[in-house]
Amino acid sequence: MKMNENVQHILPWAITAAAISYALYATFVLSKKKRVNTKIQLDSNKVVHSVDIEDVGKKTVFCRCWKSDKFPYCDGSHNKHNECNGDNVGPLIVKQKDA
Ligand code: FES
Repeated sequence: MKMNENVQHILPWAITAAAISYALYATFVLSKKKRVNTKIQLDSNKVVHSVDIEDVGKKTVFCRCWKSDKFPYCDGSHNKHNECNGDNVGPLIVKQKDA
């Protein structure tokens, strides 16, 4: 069997294997939807909070990592999230200017 015949024999199998590999990759890796919010009001289509500016006071710390048990306020859960995931998220601090 010549080299050309070997290639002709193997090529369809190689193409089929590559197509199946890509299909599996697309199915199990590319199509996975990644959620940011994994715990806050998961049954809602959209999580929205409103805070009156008068209630902010001198300083209020808001969660931006979506891990706080006091959401929308920060409870420090971002520290554990950052440690576990190598992330660097932190809160939003809203405060009055120092007088
Ligand atoms: S707990 Fe989420 S930013 Fe602090």
